[in-house]
Amino acid sequence: MSDEIKKGLLGIVVDETTISQVMPDINSLTYRGYAVQDLCEKCNFEEVAYLVLNGELPNKSELKKFKNQLEKNRNISINLREIVRHMPKKSHPMDVARTIVSVLGLEDKETTDNSPKANMRKVIRIFAKTPTAIAAFFRARKGKKIIPPKRNLSFAENFFYMCFGKVPSKDIVKAFDVSLILYAEHSFNVSTFTARTITSSLSDIHGAITGAIASLKGPLHGGANEEVMHMMSKIKKPENAFKWINKALDKKEVVMGFGHRVYKKGDSRVPTMEKYFKKVSKIQKDKKFIKIYDVVKSVMIERKNIHPNVDYPTGPTYHLMGFDTDFFTPIFVISRITGWSAHIMEQHAANKLIRPLSKYSGPDHRKVVLLNQR
Ligand SMILES: CC(C)(COP(=O)(O)OP(=O)(O)OC[C@H]1O[C@@H](n2cnc3c(N)ncnc32)[C@H](O)[C@@H]1OP(=O)(O)O)[C@@H](O)C(=O)NCCC(=O)NCCS
Repeated sequence: MSDEIKKGLLGIVVDETTISQVMPDINSLTYRGYAVQDLCEKCNFEEVAYLVLNGELPNKSELKKFKNQLEKNRNISINLREIVRHMPKKSHPMDVARTIVSVLGLEDKETTDNSPKANMRKVIRIFAKTPTAIAAFFRARKGKKIIPPKRNLSFAENFFYMCFGKVPSKDIVKAFDVSLILYAEHSFNVSTFTARTITSSLSDIHGAITGAIASLKGPLHGGANEEVMHMMSKIKKPENAFKWINKALDKKEVVMGFGHRVYKKGDSRVPTMEKYFKKVSKIQKDKKFIKIYDVVKSVMIERKNIHPNVDYPTGPTYHLMGFDTDFFTPIFVISRITGWSAHIMEQHAANKLIRPLSKYSGPDHRKVVLLNQR
């Protein structure tokens, strides 16, 4: 057995997956064999969620049934609604999201049943209810009336409706839908690996998703979309961008929304999201962020040869849609629940306890000295 340390599991292949494939050399990401760019242009988020969870794109009747199941399960219990209403208003919405899934686990009658059928039923409930509870906190912390979900609205439309009380134009909804498709799945990233690790002890799906949310919160992972907006707010106007980014690089700062463990020549999701970010900027008649975006991106590529990741364009896009900055990563959650769930079910289907080794570098073997002699 080799005792070579691979910090961060860099370059280690730990298992197989049939869910998605990241091919950095040809800048490609596929879900179940379909390129994400293709899915973004030809499908809506519900079709992609079905694909990620079931392995195939749905036909019309399968999609109708799936959407119906989601719509039926959108309501949350009075108990959960009251818990959300009484959460400290200053709580980070990612901590609230984590607690929401944990509470859903307390309420679910099948929490400890890890059979494939029960898991799929639980996935539908978690996927349908989590956005409702997150949107409830979006409003409750501002002292606004909580808006219950509405049937006959798409996943994206309903989320806007629950947050703002209205559905924006088709183009804005499409841009949001595309962001959800791009966020749905990304192989063995930190949060997915966390979910699989929790699952490997035969723990339950609510616990695995709760752990995954905690992992996604970090700024080196999903929390980066929020940090991108903080950076843009600090830059304030396009004229400041060149000086700001050069100064940050001189100080060797990590610039959020750039770099990736797997993609070293650019993130395959960025061109699609960038296109929709530009569309949203045009619709909202606000070009400030796109100008800052272009300057920071060109300096990062020129000086460091480090390319943007998907969080770079999604951050300002969500801002232009009216979402509070600290809700950007919870939006990531409502989409990634699909990818995490597919991985949890895949892990259950061919489980092996995940338990790596460590190299000990602490004190040598020594004898315990009794308390009164220390
Ligand atoms: C994502 C990330 C953690 C990948 O990390 P990694 O694969 O371990 O790569 P490293 O952190 O070792 O980076 C390699 C080099 O590039 C630099 N680098 C990587 N990302 C950078 C960034 N965003 N800004 C500035 N420098 C960066 C590192 O400082 C390092 O330089 P060094 O060799 O001189 O020390 C890293 O790129 C990062 O912190 N990005 C910002 C956070 C972010 O956007 N996360 C979302 C990812 S989807």
